[in-house]
Parts: sequence; C-alpha cells; structure tokens
Amino acid sequence: MEYLATTSAASGRSADCLVVGVYERGKTGTAAAEIDKASSGQIRALIKSGDITGELGSCLVLRDVKNVKAQRVVVVGLGKSGNFGVDQFRQATAAAANAVKSSKSKDFYSYLTLEDVDDVSVYYLARHTVETVGDCLYVFDEMKSGKRKGSSSIRKIGLAIKKRGHNDKAMLGARHADGIVTGASLAKDLGNLPPNVCNPAYLAKTAQGMARRHKKLTTRVLNEAEMKKLGMHSLLSVTRGATAPAKLIVMQYRGGGKQKPVVLVGKGITFDTGGISLKPGPAMDEMKYDMCGAASVIGTMATIATLDVPVNLTVVVPAAENMPGGDASRPGDIVKSMSGQTIEILNTDAEGRLVLCDALTYSRKFKPDAIIDVATLTGACVIALGHHRCAVFSNDEALSQEILDAGKSAADKGWPMPMGEEYALQLRSNFADFANIGGRDGGAITAACFLGKFTDGLSWAHLDIAGVAWRTGAKKGGTGRPVPMLSEFVLKRAGALP
Ligand code: BES
Ligand code: MN
Ligand code: ZN
Repeated sequence: MEYLATTSAASGRSADCLVVGVYERGKTGTAAAEIDKASSGQIRALIKSGDITGELGSCLVLRDVKNVKAQRVVVVGLGKSGNFGVDQFRQATAAAANAVKSSKSKDFYSYLTLEDVDDVSVYYLARHTVETVGDCLYVFDEMKSGKRKGSSSIRKIGLAIKKRGHNDKAMLGARHADGIVTGASLAKDLGNLPPNVCNPAYLAKTAQGMARRHKKLTTRVLNEAEMKKLGMHSLLSVTRGATAPAKLIVMQYRGGGKQKPVVLVGKGITFDTGGISLKPGPAMDEMKYDMCGAASVIGTMATIATLDVPVNLTVVVPAAENMPGGDASRPGDIVKSMSGQTIEILNTDAEGRLVLCDALTYSRKFKPDAIIDVATLTGACVIALGHHRCAVFSNDEALSQEILDAGKSAADKGWPMPMGEEYALQLRSNFADFANIGGRDGGAITAACFLGKFTDGLSWAHLDIAGVAWRTGAKKGGTGRPVPMLSEFVLKRAGALP
C-alpha cells in the first residue's frame, strides 16, 4: 500500500475516490462544505432531499460531481456533531472504506482527517485511518477452492492534512499503522486457520519463518524432551492426550542494545476440547481460536520487527493441543510445575493457566523489564466484560495504567480488574499447593491469581482476551486484537511515538 498526505482542497484533488463527511442536522464537514461550494450546492441539495442524513456510518457514493476532479465522492455520515470521538471517527472511516472497496477504486483520499476529533493528533488520525482501512480490506479465503475474492483493488491511501507541516507526523502514523495491520492480519490468519492446519508445529514454523525474514529476530523452538528436562510438567500435562507434539516457541528481537526486554507470553492452545473435562458440542469449533493469545504476541512481534523499532522484545509461546485420550490428564492428577509448586488439576479444561505458568517461570531467564501474558483464558471474562474490552490484571499499578493508556490511544481498549489474597484463597487444594480452578465465582480473577503465583518479583500483567479475540455468528473471524494495544505499548516504551 502506498500512502501520501495532501493539502489540496477536495475539489481540486484528482483521484478515483474522495471521502468526505456530513454530520446530522445538515452540518457539513470541512471538505464536504468545500465540495458543496465548488459544485454550487450539490451536497446541500442531497441533504435537503434526504439522501444524505448524516447518520453515523451511512454512505452515499456520488459520481461526476460538478467542478470536482475526483471520479467519485463518498459522503459518509459522521453522526451528531459535538459527539465525534475516536470510535465515531473509526466507524465512519470503516463505512467509507467498505463503500470505496465495492467501488473498484484504485486509490482514495480521506478528508475525514480534517475534522476535529476530541484532542486526537494528526499522527493518530492518520494511524486510525490506515488501521481501520486495513481491517476492512482483510479477507481470509485461503481455504476456499475455486476463484477467490482476493484482496481489494485499493493501492493508495491519501490523507488530507491542514498544513504542509503536518506531513511527517501523518506519514509516520500511516507507516506505524501499516506495520500494525501487518501484525494484526497475521494474528487474524493464525486464528482463522483450521486447527488441523494451525497446530503447535505450524505456529513454530511461522515463528521460524519470521526469523528468516528479519535480521534482528531469532527463533528457538523447544521440544517436549527439552521441556521435560526443564521440569515443565504442568505444561506437558496438557498435551498428554494429543498426538501433535507440544512446542515452546521463543522469539527474540534485538533492536534495543543492552536494555532489558519486554516479554510477551501468549497462550497457544491450538484446539481446546476441554480434555477429559470435555466441553459441550455447540460452538466447539471456536476453540480453534484458543491460540489467539499466541497469535497476538507473534503478530505484535511482526509489527515491531517490520517497523524496525529500537527495542528489545521477547515472545514466548507455549503451544499445545488440549485433547482427551488414553494418556490424557485426569481430574485429580497432581503435577509439579517448573517453579517447584505442585498443582491439583481439578478440571482439565482449565488448561491455559497450566501451560502459561511454566512459560512465565521460563521467561524469568530473560530478566524482563515487564512481562505481559495474553490469553483467551476464561469464559467468565466474557461474562464480566463482554466483547468490547479485554481484562487487565497486574501486580504493578504503573504497568497496568501504561497498558490501559496504550489501549485507549490505540482504540483497542482494556479494563482494570482486581486481584488479591481473598480471591487466591479460592484455589485452595487439600492435596497439592493449590488447585487449577477456584470455582465459578470470579472465574477470570481466580485464573489471574493462579498465574500470579508464578510472577512474584516480576513487573507482570495478564490480559484475558477471551471476549475480544474473535467474533462469532455471521461475521465469525479473528479480530487481530490486542495487536494494536500491545504494539502501542511497545512503541511507546521504545520512545518511537511523536
Ligand atoms: N479457552 C477456554 C476459555 C474460553 C471459553 C474462552 C469460551 C472463550 C470462550 C479455557 O481454556 C477454559 O476452558 N476455561 C474454563 C475454566 C474453568 C474450567 C475454570 C472456562 O472458562 O469455562
Ligand atoms: Mn479450556
Ligand atoms: Zn482454553
């Protein structure tokens, strides 16, 4: 994709397509007003006739507007003026991008970036535009036979800016967004691939392939024998019922000299049947998305490596399948984790924490500056927060705030959740140091407390992404979240943001 910024007036811009906005109650956006003037009232006339309502996300495609050089003008509704924030900006941009996509245009220029959006800078307006368009243009048709829909015809995205001096910030925003789209698209692909293709070995191959393409990136994959030597019996207990061998994937990106790395740990359960504590049948196919934590940290690595960010970033992925089988773990089994702590497995479906705890212990060797694990960990999290925000748990107030702020800036939001001894006590076991479940009540919190038993002395956060990693229903598919949030976090730490 090619990007450029333009200061030309909308009417004078030659292009396949322009995007301009109109608010409700007939208030025209900056560029719509200019086009209206140039065309002696064509926009106003359409507002009057009711063809343009200004309703958020509504679109009208105009052709051959008088005295306008561009072939098409997409007029998109911006909703109530005075209520045009980042979410509305992205919604309007997405609607316009979908209209442009079906118009067969090869380029388009968004003039929505001339609007006032809360106190959002030019850099972020450019970023939100390019990220939103990238999200709209994503297709996953690798597994379809016959003629594929394939990618869109759009090759160039133009961003209107108020003055020349904004050019560099807009272009930096577009470049960063392009990198984030690369990472998020990879995360979506890995999530969407079927579980008979995307198994632990496939994730490992993907990580190794990335290391071949990026000089500063190395990937190491540990096999089950190596994990056994390290004492990762908790992780290995999860894979016992599976035929596909588990992998521990370790990616190290060195762009930041001698700094301590940020470590991202992603749950990589490539299919979660529940094991002997078997899940019910309905929607079980969606448990192919149980590796979306892994997909998002690998995706973030793709973003950071593609953008050549001056930072040290390490990604650790415990990858396994949770299957029933003659040798599968049983409820009641007790295993010793790499940390030395013993765990009573009371439910084999609480497997995410069992693989993550050993990956967290292993990660200590990198002396992380901060460590964040990302996991589709609990159904309880979906009940608590729904599908809009992921849950943010942490033992470090400052780290938690940093992550929440990153989510807000990146429009990939989280929400803070509590932890504490009173919740951790729910994990009591009569026979081992603790159990792997703490009952239904506060299920997302007790899961976090379980992980907290392995992160003493670390600056650690846990993101439960069970509600945000994929969509169900007619639009079933990976969302690529929280790649934007994590990328923002790392870019900020690297001092790469304006
Ligand atoms: N991968 C699931 C969590 C999940 C379920 C995410 C549905 C998204 C949608 C996880 O491994 C799991 O099964 N968790 C159990 C934990 C319980 C047994 C304590 C759950 O949430 O039911
Ligand atoms: Mn499970
Ligand atoms: Zn799971």
